[in-house]
Amino acid sequence: MGNLQIAIDGPAGAGKSTIAKKLAEGLNITYIDTGAMYRALTYKVLKENIEINCKEKIIQLAETTNITIVHGDVYIDNQLVKDEIRSQEVTKYVSHIAQIAEVRKILVGFQKKIAEQHSVVMDGRDIGTYVLPNADIKIFLTASIEERAHRRYTELLHKQQQVSFADVIDSIKERDKIDTEREFAPLVKAADAVVVDTTGLDIEAVVEKIQQIIAKKL
Ligand code: C5P
Repeated sequence: MGNLQIAIDGPAGAGKSTIAKKLAEGLNITYIDTGAMYRALTYKVLKENIEINCKEKIIQLAETTNITIVHGDVYIDNQLVKDEIRSQEVTKYVSHIAQIAEVRKILVGFQKKIAEQHSVVMDGRDIGTYVLPNADIKIFLTASIEERAHRRYTELLHKQQQVSFADVIDSIKERDKIDTEREFAPLVKAADAVVVDTTGLDIEAVVEKIQQIIAKKL
């Protein structure tokens, strides 16, 4: 039997990474946060002062940058990055960079390679539709915009980041819009994905729900 592939897609703030990480722990398989890869590249673009509209330079950077995930930690050219890829600046620009088809093809190459070598729970926007179209389980995780924004707002307050609730809603809406409207591999539910609406549910309840879906399908 080949490696197990569990794809978790959905809009920003639906709880994908928290849930995917717990599912992977429970199954004792590798967790891959593909959003972290797009964030890592965005961080490097900003650090090198490359214009966000300069597609050619961004593609060139993607071609010459090695982004890996080992035990859930993200490395850019073998250097560990953590909170710096979660900054508000990176969050603001990441969707712009992620809409470049050539950039996506490079990062998807890394993602497919990991899934060939390990059983994975992989979360992102295009995992069930494009990266792992034959995944054993596909989940489309969602929640109301208010709840998603509230979760993100609480998270930012805990990190002592100055931000208003209205700004958080706007930023999530903008990212979702760019992610769903891009031409290449947009955010869309795969035809064979199971929708899990997490509005009003806590983490444990969502994990349990998905574990039941997995148990039924495998
Ligand atoms: O998952 P996270 O919110 O950290 O992802 C950051 C951004 O990376 C998303 O808003 C999206 O633009 C991009 N992304 C993507 N495809 C993926 C994962 C993330 O385009 N598979």
